[in-house]
Amino acid sequence: MCGIRFNVPSYHILIFPTLTTGVATLINSIQQSSEDPKKVKIHVLVCGKGSDVTALREYLQCYGINETHLIELVHFDASFLGEDLKKAWQRSFSIKRLTSDCNYARTYLYRLFPDLSRAIFLDADVVVKQPIEILWRTTLAHQAPLFAVPISRTYIDDDFLTDVVSPLYAQRYGKPLLLTDHLFNAGVMVIDFEFYRKYNLIDEMEFWLKQSNKSSERLWKYDSQSIFQLTYHGLWTRLDSKWNCKDLGGQEQQQELIDKASILHWSAPPSSITQEEVQEQVYGSPIAPKCILTE
Ligand SMILES: *[C@@H]1O[C@H](CO)[C@@H](O)[C@H](O)[C@H]1NC(C)=O
Ligand SMILES: *[C@@H]1O[C@H](CO)[C@@H](O)[C@H](O)[C@H]1NC(C)=O
Repeated sequence: MCGIRFNVPSYHILIFPTLTTGVATLINSIQQSSEDPKKVKIHVLVCGKGSDVTALREYLQCYGINETHLIELVHFDASFLGEDLKKAWQRSFSIKRLTSDCNYARTYLYRLFPDLSRAIFLDADVVVKQPIEILWRTTLAHQAPLFAVPISRTYIDDDFLTDVVSPLYAQRYGKPLLLTDHLFNAGVMVIDFEFYRKYNLIDEMEFWLKQSNKSSERLWKYDSQSIFQLTYHGLWTRLDSKWNCKDLGGQEQQQELIDKASILHWSAPPSSITQEEVQEQVYGSPIAPKCILTE
């Protein structure tokens, strides 16, 4: 007797949806644009209760997407953290709309995916228009702990409490925090897990979490995203902005920008097109679910 043998996937994509909306479109877009979808494995993180895994599975099936050896749902259960850390993360949320365990789950990648050495991390509000393999290969050639697209904001503009954060940074790392350095958008990241493990970055993330937990004033604005910006300060490498195209400009340039984008980040400010508009732009028409979704 022998089982079915699958090719081992060579490319790994992580999707950490804070919202379910968009996940099916995203998965379709990755598979449709891929050079060889059989080599691309998509790992979708589900936060919350076990019933949320069932709900996501049903939602995906409504869009004709089943779990296979190429699509896995990974349950993030915050209970492995211990109460103290879990509470500290939950207390760290300043923006209601971002309150989800998925928001800090990204700091525990090393535990969630112990077998991966690198992966492309995508927010659920993006669509992929160029083969994802191209992004993988271009970044593989220039090894770096993390690749992302820079944004115009710096540590100063992004409301880091620099009077407190700068000395802490200098003390811990023996080098200054360069406050006018640009930050990156965390919606599309290529992450080297080997580096993450080797330097035990989770200790750095939890160090910053504990600092924010003990401070009476807010040390930054965007919770785990801000912690990522500190941990990867001076370590990340710029990606071409076509890999996270989120500034769609005015009406006239919009179509041109959408056409040029390799990955379109549709709900990130300042762009503001709806998911239906994205589907129309990318596929020619909105995609309807094949069954009735119970929310
Ligand atoms: C997905 O699974 C359902 C139920 O098991 C099955 O009826 C359907 O044909 C499958 N769809 C695909 C695209 O494989
Ligand atoms: C967070 O702060 C609370 C209250 O000061 C404290 O009891 C708790 O141990 C802290 N948690 C962490 C992970 O540092």
